[in-house]
Amino acid sequence: MESLRFASHISTPVADSPATRRFSRRLGPNRAGLRISAQAAEPDLSVTVNGLKMPNPFVIGSGPPGTNYTVMKRAFSEGWGAVIAKTVSLDASKVVNVTPRYARLRAGANGSPKGQIIGWQNIELISDRPLETMLKEFKQLKEEYPDRILIASIMEEYNKAAWEELIDRVEQTGIQDAFEINFSCPHGMPERRMGAAVGQDCALLEEVCGWINAKATVPVWAKMTPNITDITQPARVSLEAGCEGVAAINTIMSVIGINLDTLRPEPCVEGYSTPGGYSAKAVHPIALAKVMSIAQMMKKEFAGKDLSLSAIGGVEKGNDAAEFILLGANTVQVCTGVMMHGYGLVKTLCSELQEFMKKHNFSSIEDFRGASLDYFTTHMDLVARQQEAIRERKATKKGLQSDRDWTGDGFVKESESMVSN
Ligand SMILES: Cc1cc2nc3c(=O)[nH]c(=O)nc-3n(C[C@H](O)[C@H](O)[C@H](O)COP(=O)(O)O)c2cc1C
Repeated sequence: MESLRFASHISTPVADSPATRRFSRRLGPNRAGLRISAQAAEPDLSVTVNGLKMPNPFVIGSGPPGTNYTVMKRAFSEGWGAVIAKTVSLDASKVVNVTPRYARLRAGANGSPKGQIIGWQNIELISDRPLETMLKEFKQLKEEYPDRILIASIMEEYNKAAWEELIDRVEQTGIQDAFEINFSCPHGMPERRMGAAVGQDCALLEEVCGWINAKATVPVWAKMTPNITDITQPARVSLEAGCEGVAAINTIMSVIGINLDTLRPEPCVEGYSTPGGYSAKAVHPIALAKVMSIAQMMKKEFAGKDLSLSAIGGVEKGNDAAEFILLGANTVQVCTGVMMHGYGLVKTLCSELQEFMKKHNFSSIEDFRGASLDYFTTHMDLVARQQEAIRERKATKKGLQSDRDWTGDGFVKESESMVSN
């Protein structure tokens, strides 16, 4: 397998450049003296997901980084593989945001202001910009970047006609490549039976996915909430109801902290707060677990179908993305990471992911997608495996444990068992 992958990197010997030497060194001495060209050694990051071609798997996650024309244009010009715009609904006048609406958690003693930001809570709602304006901007963007992927994130109330109208209006612009359905916003919207209120109720979800898939003519990804006991249940329902993909996770319901001077919760709006959505580095391990469960379920129950998995949660490094892909993700979304590091982050993510791929001689994303998934099992199975391994190690233990173990019949064999040559 490895040699097959390796074959696609092989080229005829080329001049000795530092990059070539570095790469040859990594491959070790037993590669039949073949050298690797620095150019051919660059692993291919491009992916095709539900028929959508992207230069790399990095996608702007729905939120502030995809909230208007200016910032989405910036995302494309910096090289993001795709952009998922901020969630839109039919009537933006019902969406009223407050400020401040973010609060951060820092590492270090008592959340020292110099500590690294590890957690981010928001109480931001979906887009408060008129649908008409957003659609005009989508259109303009697609005219300027026709070969780039722009995904509309949509959300509506529990009302078939409203969903149909929203899908119709977005599709009529003729510009969107896919829909991501926000079944997962944990705050504000559930009060209107939107977002997580649908994603947490499999009966509602099945019905709403049915409406959406009967109407939409482009791929549909269902975005999952982690605020549920078993995330595979809504993921399964969405796929069975015809969605082409699942995206996970949206933010985790949280209370980020209480200000110990004022005794008021954060983020504090006129002295009060409300639980919000947690994101950034701290959620990455939780997102890995959720993505792993969904990927296992998809592999077992939907094998062979052209379905996709978009992983989200705490990505700031190429290695964070590598972990998601090793679990089976086709694409990797980033939201808070862009808010902290800017749009140029995609360049670092791409080069770090390529470094990881070079280290393992992977030439494409498919070379390692899902490669770690089969190494998750139950605790009971871990115990059985460990007992078996101990038994095997004992059985192969060389020599006698004690002089009292010498026997007359097996004396020659027992002697040989302790000879070194
Ligand atoms: C300020 C903020 C606003 C967000 N708004 C949306 C939204 O409108 N629609 C949506 O589907 N997800 C929204 N999200 C969730 C993100 O897309 C993402 O699922 C989550 O933050 C985890 O990824 P991250 O750690 O990369 O931010 C928002 C997240 C943040 C931080």
